[in-house]
Amino acid sequence: MELLVADHPLVSHKLTTLRDERTDSPTFRRLADELVTLLAYEATRDVRVEPVEVTTPVAATTGVRLSSPRPLVVPILRAGLGMLDGMTRLIPTAEVGFLGMMRNEETLEAVVYANRLPDDLTGRQVYLLDPMLATGGTLAAAIRLMLERGATDVTAVCLIGAPEGVAAVREAVGDAPVQIVLGGLDERLNEVGYIVPGLGDAGDRLYG
Ligand code: PRP
Repeated sequence: MELLVADHPLVSHKLTTLRDERTDSPTFRRLADELVTLLAYEATRDVRVEPVEVTTPVAATTGVRLSSPRPLVVPILRAGLGMLDGMTRLIPTAEVGFLGMMRNEETLEAVVYANRLPDDLTGRQVYLLDPMLATGGTLAAAIRLMLERGATDVTAVCLIGAPEGVAAVREAVGDAPVQIVLGGLDERLNEVGYIVPGLGDAGDRLYG
């Protein structure tokens, strides 16, 4: 598993406003959308392309286009929905699947409550979207689901993560072709499984 933490002043600037408890929902939604576009630029560095001929007004040349099968983008509901538009703006031809997962706040275990994904992901590149990587239970289960269905590689785009969650996903996926792209790597988890300093509950701040 590879970890990439975005090291870019614009990402840090937007994340700082996102974290601020005074930031209202409309602003939070706009910032999450802008951040995912910046992170997606990094996350799609290895998206598969194939050569294509193009004729400009001046000459014929060879360019590239996204390869078939198309990438699959999967927001993890609910909070991941806040990242979908920003991602599909960058890859408008991507297929979109949906995965509803929630964390039991007592046990911190992830439970799947909705699954609208292609059964067969053989040869597909998958991009999972979820603002928060806390204990890593949700992301590890989601990645496992994609790999079981045959995904070739899985990239998770998260706005922030805790070191404990990164370690848990690393442990769960072993040397499977998985990449995590984070806007920021925070200090730690607190005793109730919240990221510190974090940004609170992303789902509530987006839609609460
Ligand atoms: C949050 C977040 C992740 C998960 C992270 O979702 O969006 O999906 O928790 O926690 P973990 O790494 O400890 O598994 P939540 O369960 O609150 O659901 P929501 O998106 O519907 O708010």
